[in-house]
Amino acid sequence: MLIGRPVDVKSSEITPESLYVNRREWLASAAAGAVALSVFGPAARAQDPQPVGRPFGLQPDDKPTPWQDVTTYNNFYEFGTDKSDPAQNSKNFKPLPWTITVDGMASKPGKFQLEDFIKPSTVEDRIYRHRCVEAWSMVIPWRGIPLADVIKRAEPLASAKYVAFTTLMDPSRMPGQQLGVLDWPYTEGLRLDEALHPLAFLATGLYGRTLPNQNGAPVRLVVPWKYGFKGIKSIVRMTFTDKQPKTAWNTQTPNEYGFYSNVNPAVDHPRWSQAKERRIGEFLRRPTLPFNGYADQVASLYAGMDLKKNY
Ligand code: MTE
Repeated sequence: MLIGRPVDVKSSEITPESLYVNRREWLASAAAGAVALSVFGPAARAQDPQPVGRPFGLQPDDKPTPWQDVTTYNNFYEFGTDKSDPAQNSKNFKPLPWTITVDGMASKPGKFQLEDFIKPSTVEDRIYRHRCVEAWSMVIPWRGIPLADVIKRAEPLASAKYVAFTTLMDPSRMPGQQLGVLDWPYTEGLRLDEALHPLAFLATGLYGRTLPNQNGAPVRLVVPWKYGFKGIKSIVRMTFTDKQPKTAWNTQTPNEYGFYSNVNPAVDHPRWSQAKERRIGEFLRRPTLPFNGYADQVASLYAGMDLKKNY
């Protein structure tokens, strides 16, 4: 991100029927994937959890990234700027109890405890592709609920056009906030129609388990057709507004990180190409797909927009 360059990593809303993998095939392919990965990178370890969930928008050669990588190769600047920092420095973070404020242009604003905001009985498991602006990618089994569910409950006013998200601000619990690397608290935003898209997801878990601190506990955003930095972690506030919200990375470096942040292999980052990506655990780079492979489901949201300007 801030310091970022592409890293040289060593170490249809309904998925088309042809790409749907049933659980038996899935486990077999995951096992085969583990063998292949062990040649080029970290394999799943025996004690790691198995991926669970319905694959959304996966390509035939997408295999879930091992738990070990998903939980130790993270960006979460509240806990440090190196990829290994969040796992190390968030160990003592206690996310519960957690209150989420819903405010702004909505008929039903309020303050909610996490378990009322996202009822544990309503969560589902989904496996999504994840593409970082730094040109690496993963395949991640998330647990959570569609973002649209909580938005509809809040009943946004017709005049609301966007939803803004804010991360917890507490430098005593998030030591990275004691440094001026970003304009804290971390913020993000989506246009309301993007936020209501059935793929936009609020995650409270990973690999069928509670969300680890470093992945954004207790609740974070997942927008699979956008660069990973849209996936704001440890959310404490959602605000409905008629103005395009400010976002952490756009505020920090406006010429590098736009509001839309759709994965677009045709638009280079000012300092590197976005045409290819390195899947964590793989050796060769693979071509990056428009909208991270979700184009058939989301491209219509941007019809008529110049995506070179609205990057
Ligand atoms: N959210 C907060 N609050 N702080 C951050 O530093 N980093 C973003 C995003 N959300 C970040 C954040 C970036 S740059 C990425 S790539 C993703 O989180 C990483 O999510 P992951 O750890 O699940 O891979």
